[in-house]
Amino acid sequence: MGFIEQKTFRSKNDTDVLIRNGGADDADEIIGINKSVLEEKFFMLREPSEATYTTESMAKEIIRHIEKEGSLYIVSEVNGKVTGYLEFQNGFFKRTSHSGMFSMFILKEFRETGIGSMLLETLLEWAENNPLTEKVTLAVFSTNVRAQNLYRKYGFMEEGRCPRDMKLDDGTYIDSVLMYKFVK
Ligand SMILES: CC(C)(COP(=O)(O)OP(=O)(O)OC[C@H]1O[C@@H](n2cnc3c(N)ncnc32)[C@H](O)[C@@H]1OP(=O)(O)O)[C@@H](O)C(=O)NCCC(=O)NCCS
Repeated sequence: MGFIEQKTFRSKNDTDVLIRNGGADDADEIIGINKSVLEEKFFMLREPSEATYTTESMAKEIIRHIEKEGSLYIVSEVNGKVTGYLEFQNGFFKRTSHSGMFSMFILKEFRETGIGSMLLETLLEWAENNPLTEKVTLAVFSTNVRAQNLYRKYGFMEEGRCPRDMKLDDGTYIDSVLMYKFVK
């Protein structure tokens, strides 16, 4: 089961940020974050029309992460509002269960104040102490320099690139950059 001790951090603009476990009750706010980031178009795989989550399916997704050994679902909260989330899921098979991939998204108006760092630090601390987890990985758009800088800051290295992995409506392509960090 993936659980953290919740913790309050101070953001760069002097606001308290609570990092806590996600729960089924967060489903609607997470869907809202998803929609808003999807509409920005440059950070997520899905097109806005492919956002098919319902409250029920999102709640199930969150619970699935919480109940699975080696997975984690955490959120950032500012003044009672969920402002971002990070989900980490380890491999399904025995041979891949030591390794997991995460993704994280923060509402536009709350970015660049340190919340991404808080979520990632919390994931890494959890991963270092989780007996199962040895390797943390991610995939990021090659164009997403801000996210890559964040990952490098925490010691992630480039594992490889998938050329022309995404094709946008206007016919342009974006590569995926795969990154990893060993936590044991
Ligand atoms: C990427 C994201 C998660 C980072 O979270 P954040 O709260 O904005 O990041 P932080 O404020 O903690 O900044 C962490 C680091 O990112 C880098 N960074 C932040 N803003 C940056 C910018 N404008 N340009 C380049 N690098 C930047 C810096 O290395 C920074 O470290 P520093 O504060 O020590 O200088 C967040 O911006 C986001 O949700 N973006 C849209 C969705 C997305 O890209 N998700 C990741 C998909 S793989």
